[in-house]
Amino acid sequence: MELDPDGEALPLLGSKEGLTHLAIAYINPGDLVLVPSPAYPAHFRGPLIAGGEIYPLILKPENDWLIDLAAIPDAVAKRAKILYFNYPSNPTAATAPREFFQEVVAFAQRHEILLVHDLCYAELAFDGYHPTSLLEIPGAKEIGVEFHTLSKTYNMAGWRVGFVVGNRHIIQGLRTLKTNLDYGIFAALQTAAETALNLPDVYLHEVQARYRTRRDFLIQGLSELGWTIPPSKATMYLWVPCPPDTSSTDFALTVLQQTGVVVTPGNAFGAGGEGYVRISLIADCDRLQTALDRLKQANIRYQPVISSRVESR
Ligand SMILES: Cc1ncc(COP(=O)(O)O)c(C=O)c1O
Repeated sequence: MELDPDGEALPLLGSKEGLTHLAIAYINPGDLVLVPSPAYPAHFRGPLIAGGEIYPLILKPENDWLIDLAAIPDAVAKRAKILYFNYPSNPTAATAPREFFQEVVAFAQRHEILLVHDLCYAELAFDGYHPTSLLEIPGAKEIGVEFHTLSKTYNMAGWRVGFVVGNRHIIQGLRTLKTNLDYGIFAALQTAAETALNLPDVYLHEVQARYRTRRDFLIQGLSELGWTIPPSKATMYLWVPCPPDTSSTDFALTVLQQTGVVVTPGNAFGAGGEGYVRISLIADCDRLQTALDRLKQANIRYQPVISSRVESR
């Protein structure tokens, strides 16, 4: 799609900064903000810092971790000012079909809600899957913006380069705030970012292959410990259920204390993440093997509850 670089795009010092500052630019104390739970923390912490009230949209495995728009009460939708969302998702690794994006746009148009979509895993997709951009959807640019980053695809997390594209009025609000906070990205980093963005696609394929290999390796290893994890179609994460009757915090602590391996408790991403942990595929397969060996040694396994019915005679 075509964008006007002057009005419809804004460079950011990493997308986290922009996601949070957008909330500060737009949300007044008491404004209602729709945020999935679980979600990347900046999606709810930004609005909270701005004094907003969060209405958590609890995501469920039976909905493939998609937002259930029909479950949002009309009165809530009417009051809501902004919806933050993110597919492919951190932390659930869920992806959303194009029809879902169409439904979100129709919902936001109906209720006059600003859409903030975080597409930071746009290129980290596997097995022929191509994530959808919000801006592909007709009408989305009238009501929404989309955040991107070079942190993930180009391994430039410490360099702090991101950008937001979409509706010029929404972007102008963020630009006005940022003009008073920073002076933009150091020119040398902009040149590096430009070089990264112009790399041939073969680079992207290598990065994708690296994460896909780690994904498959870890899924296989965890299956030997009792877990059945469907392969993520995108992101650098596996979203893994805790053993039955174990909270996210307890499980993450047990794993840390008994094996020295760090997994992120799902409830760090909101109450909707309870019962899961997120594993990042940021280590190579030999390190992942070490983690698997330690889990095995500590006898940390997933044993599903087998429901048994005792017949009374
Ligand atoms: C969904 C999501 N958005 C934004 C970010 C932040 O990226 P950046 O380095 O561009 O601030 C992350 C990083 O983990 C993320 O997972």
